[in-house]
Amino acid sequence: MNYNIAVIKGDGIGPEITDQALLALDATGTRFGHTFNYEFLLGGGAALDVHGIPLPDETIEKSRASDAVFLGAVGDPKWDGEPGANRPEMAILGLRAELGLFANLRPALIFEELADASPIRPDIISGSLDILIVRELNGGIYFGPKNTDALTDGKTGDGVLAALDLADGKGRWTGTTAYDVEIYSESEIRRIGKVAFEMARKRGGRLMSVDKANVLECSRLWRGIMEDMRAAEYPDIELDHMYVDNVTQQLIKNPKQFDVIVTSNMFGDIISDEASQITGSIGMLPSASLGEGSFGLYEPIHGSAPKYAGLDRANPIATILSAAMMLRYSFSLAAEADAIEGAVRKFLAAGYRTPDIMAAGFTEVGTAKAGELIASLV
Ligand code: IPM
Ligand code: MG
Repeated sequence: MNYNIAVIKGDGIGPEITDQALLALDATGTRFGHTFNYEFLLGGGAALDVHGIPLPDETIEKSRASDAVFLGAVGDPKWDGEPGANRPEMAILGLRAELGLFANLRPALIFEELADASPIRPDIISGSLDILIVRELNGGIYFGPKNTDALTDGKTGDGVLAALDLADGKGRWTGTTAYDVEIYSESEIRRIGKVAFEMARKRGGRLMSVDKANVLECSRLWRGIMEDMRAAEYPDIELDHMYVDNVTQQLIKNPKQFDVIVTSNMFGDIISDEASQITGSIGMLPSASLGEGSFGLYEPIHGSAPKYAGLDRANPIATILSAAMMLRYSFSLAAEADAIEGAVRKFLAAGYRTPDIMAAGFTEVGTAKAGELIASLV
């Protein structure tokens, strides 16, 4: 088969890690008789350099027309001074919004071969860990109303602060004031809930919904809808709820209690980084961002790590595993995905380590060598 993949290498270590994933894809294509065609597109700081904007229309349109989008990482300190709407990160946020990618799957899996790279005591993880974080990706505080403004003489540019100030009656919002609104609707919660319940059904049958229902209205709505869904459609799933602050403790204390976790955009961003450290390195965790059909965007959960750019030190495994997720979820190529994941295992079992997971007695290799070895093991 032929597959057309929109590739956005992005910034920092983005290009070098993406190149390694494409090597693994090509090796898989050769072994299984598929052709992967790549259309290289600009996004993030790389697009700002050329077009002055992080997400050109061409990138959106060609991504939409592709079978799947593959992204390295975006973010470059050079553009830190840009207004929020023109930062490199808007490339990824804009693609998620434009392409309707509302379900972010972030598996936190410990490879047995890497159990000693985890900072958690071996008796706590006992050699393995397999958690799937399902993060809502199109809503919440990331995409709610937001602005930075000042209330001057009871007026602001957009009137929101003035209205709030009036309702509050305390005259609290003076000087420069910023707001980001956490907002969720029933339909948004139901559609991510469905993805999470279905995943739990395919896995261990347990779902932990993470919220802050002791404080937030959005969380109370979220919790109620999850309960509703379980009662109506998923009585076979064991559903529990946990406050997000407690989850950050439990992930360290007893991570094995979790199977599938479902949570909002912001909480999911935070706890997926924490979960990645349990597995040894943030350089190991892939992700899939899915919409309603099989179309998706695939990227490592980590950022562009500008200080490691071009040094041949970045771990390409999260990106290579993201390619495996693309084969599995967008192209339904399970054996091919297994082949890539198997190659990563063989690479680790053979004693190779990138600097982030290096330990005594292993062989340290750089980004390019790691990519070449993994591709050769597909
Ligand atoms: C992630 C990243 C992004 C996010 C940034 C780069 C916008 O941290 O994918 O986790 O916050 O979602
Ligand atoms: Mg993040």
